[in-house]
Parts: sequence; structure tokens; C-alpha cells
Amino acid sequence: MLAWRQRSPSRKQPGGKPDAEERESGGMSASGNAEPLLTVRGVERSFDVGNQKLRVLKGIDLQLYPKQLVMLKGRSGSGKTTLMNLMGGLDVPTKGEIYFRGQPFHEWDDNRRTAIRRKDIGFIFQAYALMPLLSAYENVELSMRMAKVPRSEWKSRATACLELVGLAKRMHHRPFELSGGEQQRVAIAKAISHRPSLILADEPTAELDSQMAAQVMAVFREIVETENISICMTTHDTTIMEVADHVYEMVDGVFV
Ligand SMILES: Nc1ncnc2c1ncn2[C@@H]1O[C@H](COP(=O)(O)OP(=O)(O)OP(=O)(O)O)[C@@H](O)[C@H]1O
Ligand SMILES: [Mg+2]
Repeated sequence: MLAWRQRSPSRKQPGGKPDAEERESGGMSASGNAEPLLTVRGVERSFDVGNQKLRVLKGIDLQLYPKQLVMLKGRSGSGKTTLMNLMGGLDVPTKGEIYFRGQPFHEWDDNRRTAIRRKDIGFIFQAYALMPLLSAYENVELSMRMAKVPRSEWKSRATACLELVGLAKRMHHRPFELSGGEQQRVAIAKAISHRPSLILADEPTAELDSQMAAQVMAVFREIVETENISICMTTHDTTIMEVADHVYEMVDGVFV
């Protein structure tokens, strides 16, 4: 049995809006849960296509708490990536509110959102987005350089992140010398290297076989525990959903 299946049910958090008790107690619920890291409230997103309005998200509510791993599922075109883009501040909603650590993303301009995103959010994509000519180590280092992590921390932090994802012996390999699962683990090391509090991963296991996908999920569970990170990811794989603290299902722009 893989380690990532063994999680404590005590971390489970209900989705949806905060109840009155939570709001009135200044963010701490009766059970002592922390303030949400991310709150999505009544979010809608429409696109203008020709002279038509395409309504993609039609009223989404979601809360993500510290040290939580949540998953979004739903058929192709249901709006998962659209929502992730909003959660990461890459896009703004047509209507509704998004608070990241209490800060109103929906009211901010792109520059302000980008500053928070660089510092506090890590992205992982389906196709690893590694620089082909750089080694695993150099890819992670580049990511820290871009996030303006002090140079004195690069070596120890890049090494620690690559060790965490089980690549201590592959640090100096370039992407083409790594398997798909190993490349995805480098992408994870990159995404966590600047110590974000949120990781958004859009179908991070889609290109992997089931064993490699399980390895990646084990790493996700590990970093949620040890790095104090929350993860929101999309997947179509029902086996993988077993590891989530909460699964949101999107159908036609709303959660069901
Ligand atoms: N910038 C855009 N302009 C117009 N339509 C868009 C835009 N972005 C997304 N859409 C539309 O919104 C719908 C939802 O797209 P989205 O990428 O969020 O789906 P998804 O759930 O991530 O699907 P998949 O599982 O295939 O990745 C699609 O019908 C898509 O065509
Ligand atoms: Mg998508």
C-alpha cells in the first residue's frame, strides 16, 4: 500500500462558504480551524466569443485551508482551468470575489496580483515546463532566481527540494535524461522552491502512468505536511482522488 493513501481524516474540511460562527469569531471556527488561505465566493467568468457571451463559471464557492489538498474534477470544457487561472490571479472574475490570504484578488490590477503570485503561489502544469538545456538542479535554481530568493539560499534550498521529491541522485540530469515522473517531480521541486503557500497544479499526472502518478501524489502529500503548503489540482483519475481532503466536481460551470 502506498503511503499517500494513508492520510488522517481529521484534516478534512467542508467546502463552501464560512458559516456564521466562523465569520464572527474572526476566522477561527469553533473547531479551531485556521483562516482560509483562499476563498472563492460567487465567482462567475464569461468570455466574449464573437458577439456572444460564453458563460463558463456560473457561481463558484470554494475554500482552501492551510495544509489542505483539494481536487477539481469534471469533464473537459467544464471550466476547471478557467477557475484555476482565477485562483492563481492569472485572470479576474466577471463577477464575485477571490481572497488570497484575505487580500482581494478580484479588486487588484495585474501588477499587484503578479507580485503576490511570484512570491506566494507555485504552478505545475501537465507538460512539466522545464528548460531542456538545464539540469534538474539548474531548473530549480532558475525558478528561485526568478522569484528573487536570495542567492545565498539557492544551493541548500534547491538540493533540499530535489531531495524531498526523491531526486537526490538525479540532480545533475537534464530533462531528456529523466522519466516523465521524474520530470514532473523536478517541476514540483521548482514550484515549491520559493516556499509558496499555494500550489496550483493543472492535471499534473495526466502524462504519467499509474505508478508514476502515485509517486507524484506521495510527494504532494509529503509537501502538504512538511512545507506547510496547500495544493489545488485538477484530475480525471478517480484513483488519485482518494488522496484528496476534498473533491469538488464541476458540471457546466457550477459545483455539484
Ligand atoms: N479565453 C477564452 N475565451 C473564450 N472561451 C474560453 C476561454 N478560456 C476558456 N474558454 C472556454 O471555457 C470552457 C472551459 O474551459 P476550461 O479550459 O476551463 O475547461 P477544463 O475544465 O479545464 O477542460 P479540460 O478538462 O479539457 O482541461 C471551454 O468551453 C473553453 O472553450
Ligand atoms: Mg483544463
